[in-house]
Amino acid sequence: MSVNGAKDGDAAGDLKAPIGLLAELTHRCPLQCPYCSNPLALERVNGELSGEIWLDVLAQAAELGVLQLHLSGGEPTVRRDLEDIVAQAARLGLYSNLITAGVLLTRERLQVLADRGLDHVQISIQDSVAANADRIAHYAGGHAKKLQVARWTRELKLPLTINAPVHRQNIDSLPAIIELAVALGAHRLEVAHVQYYGWALENRQALMPTRAQVLHSAELVDKARTRLKGVLVIDFVVPDYYARRPKPCMGGWGRGIITITPSGNVLPCHAAQSIAGLAFDNVRQRRLKDIWFASAAFNAYRGTHWMREPCRSCEFRELDWGGCRCQALAFTGAASNTDPACDKSPDHAAFTAIALTDSSRPAPPFAFRRPRAAR
Ligand code: SF4
Ligand code: FES
Repeated sequence: MSVNGAKDGDAAGDLKAPIGLLAELTHRCPLQCPYCSNPLALERVNGELSGEIWLDVLAQAAELGVLQLHLSGGEPTVRRDLEDIVAQAARLGLYSNLITAGVLLTRERLQVLADRGLDHVQISIQDSVAANADRIAHYAGGHAKKLQVARWTRELKLPLTINAPVHRQNIDSLPAIIELAVALGAHRLEVAHVQYYGWALENRQALMPTRAQVLHSAELVDKARTRLKGVLVIDFVVPDYYARRPKPCMGGWGRGIITITPSGNVLPCHAAQSIAGLAFDNVRQRRLKDIWFASAAFNAYRGTHWMREPCRSCEFRELDWGGCRCQALAFTGAASNTDPACDKSPDHAAFTAIALTDSSRPAPPFAFRRPRAAR
């Protein structure tokens, strides 16, 4: 399929429909994780898309060729019309994945969601130790509730993924987190070192592990993968600050995933609004298919036409697509620069030095979004 408005074959030639839609139904959330990847300025409830618009957007997504729907936030279960959105996904043949903190769910509501066609549940945990988990999420009793929801998920025969962001304040629990995922009957565990975007950047020093901790966590995951083959799939994400090569962020800018914010802005990645100067189309004004193929923001960093050296002539440019534009902008001042996570970037040494400095200093207290609103 060709792309209207794309600048060259790089950006467009083999462009296919997105496989996944990340629907950020709301930015409201009862938790306050210090590594929240949502922007510093959250979108307000009175700007959120109505359920009716979401149903139409899902129909457009299915028509475009999207196969997977990730229902996210914030906390998607604060939306009272979540059931209707799930039912629409089922009608359209979209595989629906609920990404939830779990703390607001009842068994009855989970049952209704399952009955309406929900395909998969993903629950985040902050630690295997309740007291530390609740401290990190700034929500008393949250950990116990999450475990309860995980058990209900399996009782209802829904597949379960446990998502465990790791950092210096919970990394020692990694073996116990792996055992917890097995005990809960999870099919998949995501051990994801925190990435420093959004609110996480505010807490970088409080979260940054040492290099030795990162290496040790990789060894633990390797061993667990072998031991638990056929029982639990474990995904592992290393922190960019200790990497040699960047990740193809979201599989590459505008290549496989389309993100829609609570107010309807359509983004090539969930943090793209941090890039000043890009204008994002909104589903209230433009059809999803047209946005995917022709919007200026999607085509700005799609493919390789925008790259500078060293990416422009690099053999890996169509594997990692130059890494993350948001991180390149935040750290180097230009979104079209090489991601500093890459060791070919002139900024890589300074980038790595930050991790070494942050992790060698005592962890300061967490900065929470709503410090006085602890439960
Ligand atoms: Fe990837 Fe660019 Fe680094 Fe090459 S120079 S490995 S394309 S980020
Ligand atoms: Fe935006 Fe990576 S977070 S490109």
